[in-house]
Amino acid sequence: MIRAKITGIGMHVPPRVITNHDLEKILDTSDEWITTRTGIKERRIAEEWEKASDLALPAAEEAIKNAGLTSKDIDAVIVATSTPDMTFPSTACFLSDKLGCSKPMAFDISAACSGFIYGLTVGNSFILSGQFKNVLVVGAEVFSRIIDWNDRSTAVIFGDGAGAVVLSKADGDRGILSAAMKSDGSHWGSLYCPVGEKLRMRGRETFKLAIKSMETASKKALNKAGIDLEKISLVIPHQANIRIINALAERLELPEEKVFSNIHKYGNTSAASIPIAMYEAYKEKKFKEGDYILLTAFGGGLTWGAVVLKF
Ligand code: UT7
Repeated sequence: MIRAKITGIGMHVPPRVITNHDLEKILDTSDEWITTRTGIKERRIAEEWEKASDLALPAAEEAIKNAGLTSKDIDAVIVATSTPDMTFPSTACFLSDKLGCSKPMAFDISAACSGFIYGLTVGNSFILSGQFKNVLVVGAEVFSRIIDWNDRSTAVIFGDGAGAVVLSKADGDRGILSAAMKSDGSHWGSLYCPVGEKLRMRGRETFKLAIKSMETASKKALNKAGIDLEKISLVIPHQANIRIINALAERLELPEEKVFSNIHKYGNTSAASIPIAMYEAYKEKKFKEGDYILLTAFGGGLTWGAVVLKF
């Protein structure tokens, strides 16, 4: 059976750390409020010169190296981002040039925080159709650029970073097993960023939609894959808010330790949050080769979805 298997994974976050205590100095907020309402303790912020493709580059290089490949082996580069280097060319074009790829198909995906799992789904289809052998899927964001640093309800939440995987054509039972992707444009007003302006969010509304959409998509993807939840070693959800993650665990009737979170370190890195979380969970041995894992995300659009894979 031909599958699209994750053969390499990488991540990169900029070194500059902004803690809740740093934010207390510029906003009417407190470490206590941010910690209890979101679970976030600190986030990474890019330097002024750093663009999404700059953050993506080390993550992609690591993923390609771990896959035992070189950039010349990459047939397609997909970058999920809401904070692209430019409107066009795509961040994927900049990234593939920086990587020294051999003129791959390259394009960006705009699906906000669901972008990475949308990208995995597209990469999976390319491989299953026989079109490509190796697809690089990246989530890379510099949300610090679109944050209104005077708005305490959003400034404390987001951070910058990048994560990447290589999807490769493989024979066997390991790889992406199912995907359930959805969108509903009628909810666009709960989370959006007009061109050239700053991000706006209706937090409470987004909160409720997030839990429900990830629960529904997770169940649908499990059903499609024919895998019982008990078989899943780890759920890796989009890192938006620890209360959302815990509520999802409760709805899925999973112990909290089976639902990964590293939001305390990075905040919400939008499309980069799942590959960064997957990278750290793997390094921390929360799952291993051959384990079933479930990825689920939601974001502006609204967009949402889930992917089940055998790692
Ligand atoms: O990737 C998807 C991205 N978005 C999300 O996932 C967001 C989902 N929503 C959330 O995570 C939460 O709704 C927030 C963390 C954004 C807000 O938490 P909340 O518990 O829903 O708070 P709230 O918006 O209902 O605000 C409660 C109070 C308000 O004050 P009043 O009206 O009760 O006096 C806010 O003005 O907290 C106030 N507040 C703050 N106080 C201190 C809002 N932001 C802050 C802040 N520091 N940073």
